[in-house]
Amino acid sequence: MLATGAWEPAATHSGYRSVNEELVSASDIRPEQVVLDVGCGTGSASGIVVERVPRALVWAIDPDREMLEQMPGALAQRVGQIVASAEELGTLFPPAVADRVLLANCIHLIEDLPAAMRGVAKVLRPGGAVGLCTTFYEGGRPAGDEAIYRRFLFKAYAELRRRGVPRVRVARDVHSARVVDRADVRELLGTHGLVIQREWEREVLLSSDLLRDLLGSKHYAAGALPGIDPATAAAALADASQALLSEGVESIARNWWYLLCNMEAGG
Ligand SMILES: C[S@@+](CC[C@H](N)C(=O)[O-])C[C@H]1O[C@@H](n2cnc3c(N)ncnc32)[C@H](O)[C@@H]1O
Repeated sequence: MLATGAWEPAATHSGYRSVNEELVSASDIRPEQVVLDVGCGTGSASGIVVERVPRALVWAIDPDREMLEQMPGALAQRVGQIVASAEELGTLFPPAVADRVLLANCIHLIEDLPAAMRGVAKVLRPGGAVGLCTTFYEGGRPAGDEAIYRRFLFKAYAELRRRGVPRVRVARDVHSARVVDRADVRELLGTHGLVIQREWEREVLLSSDLLRDLLGSKHYAAGALPGIDPATAAAALADASQALLSEGVESIARNWWYLLCNMEAGG
């Protein structure tokens, strides 16, 4: 049975899965290729890769052992697993071994982005590619939903106070403490010989049940309400989202940013 605050219910939701399906499709993975799913969580992107390209060689990498432990059994037997952060990537594999590196919904959580991108560039073979996606960037919140986000933020504060959490620093964007700067990411990748192949955005409607699962997960809460015990934060966010939904809000829109870069032949 999954613990309260688990990530897997959100990760397996069709709305969330579609985000990673798009990333995997765009990454154009072929049989026998080596794919590193960095910040894999419970293996959402890895699962899509092995379904679509059964002969791909997939490594699922995440610093949080609990996440890897929630990976569905069949997938866990099919992919290699490593407990490590994106920053450590360059130390895990020899140079130029990977055909694809996927960073699905984790780039906003990486503390040392320059170190992580150095690692990505080191492990990618010439002609290989890195694909990333996140909703935690400066354009993640569609302007039309600002009022809903503000109400949600207010309710999250109230729920924390109700739980006796005295002084709370809630991030401006309660959906994530950190928001990546797209220009920084592009520049970092460029300095390592990674050339932008394709960049796009997509609006995703988070339905009420997906919102409940997403916001009630400890991982989401740890990002959204830093410095607060993740289980308490997850419970407060889940209740805040429930209150919002009971007011008749049936979905919230988010934008997702996708970036696909190729490693130059001489890179
Ligand atoms: C929102 S989850 C996304 C998981 C999965 N990629 C998905 O799309 O479902 C973010 C993941 O990033 C991981 N993470 C946090 N810091 C990281 C880091 N420095 N390097 C790599 N992954 C990290 C977390 O442990 C978590 O599993």
